[in-house]
Amino acid sequence: MHLVVLGATGPTGRVLTDQALAAGHHVTAVARRADTLPARPGLTAVAADATREGALDAAVADADAVLSALGVRPSRAPVSLYSTGVANAVAAMARHGVKRLLAVSSAVLDPDWRPSGEFLFNHVLDPYVNRVVARTAHEDMRRMEALLAAGALDWTVVRPAGLFDHPAVTAYRTASGSADGVYTSRADLAAAMLREVVENAHPRAAMGVVTVDTRPGFLKLLREEVLRRR
Ligand SMILES: NC(=O)c1ccc[n+]([C@@H]2O[C@H](COP(=O)([O-])OP(=O)(O)OC[C@H]3O[C@@H](n4cnc5c(N)ncnc54)[C@H](OP(=O)(O)O)[C@@H]3O)[C@@H](O)[C@H]2O)c1
Repeated sequence: MHLVVLGATGPTGRVLTDQALAAGHHVTAVARRADTLPARPGLTAVAADATREGALDAAVADADAVLSALGVRPSRAPVSLYSTGVANAVAAMARHGVKRLLAVSSAVLDPDWRPSGEFLFNHVLDPYVNRVVARTAHEDMRRMEALLAAGALDWTVVRPAGLFDHPAVTAYRTASGSADGVYTSRADLAAAMLREVVENAHPRAAMGVVTVDTRPGFLKLLREEVLRRR
């Protein structure tokens, strides 16, 4: 397939691109800093700002599907990247007759997401940290999900839990809406997206994905996901 990966220079986008190429897909990798991606057979890098109207037209022409891993750094600043970027992708796809789009959102978008056996997370970290620190991003993810639901595309919103890096794909779990778990490795998120784009099991719906076979150490997570990215 010809897949367009939005946010291809981010940690998820890079894993998604690597796995897609390894599976034999052609990838058009889009980001503002797309020139930092190493050249490989099957890869076309396109530097574009997804928030600029019309900026994604050249990238999506001839695509079979668009996979968005667009994201912002955690902050309390207003966020519009998810809704604006995906709206621009939807408009470009409509102009080029591309119908399938997968967009990374978050398990937090499911108000009923309460991972089993995670008392501290469910009663302290999620309500008082997760939903406060990244509130503006989650609000914009909600706008993104709403615009997809109101449109005519064949979309799937993919909702991971807390992201971490792990070198290999594990026996991840998926579920409609959100999945039961606190963490999702980027390798599992990418694998679930590539499987979904082929199998189309969650058309016009949200799909949760979680990693259950391994979990990150708390200090490593803090160092890599919060301190390194500030
Ligand atoms: N961290 C978590 O625990 C967690 C949990 C649930 C969901 N998520 C979501 O998972 C997704 C992936 O997260 P991640 O941490 O792996 O990646 P990330 O660091 O959020 O990656 C951001 C990507 O978006 C691109 N981007 C940002 N603004 C852009 C613009 N205006 N135009 C084009 N590209 C733009 C960046 O590339 P350039 O800078 O090169 O443009 C980069 O490739 C995000 O949507 C995130 O919100 C994260």
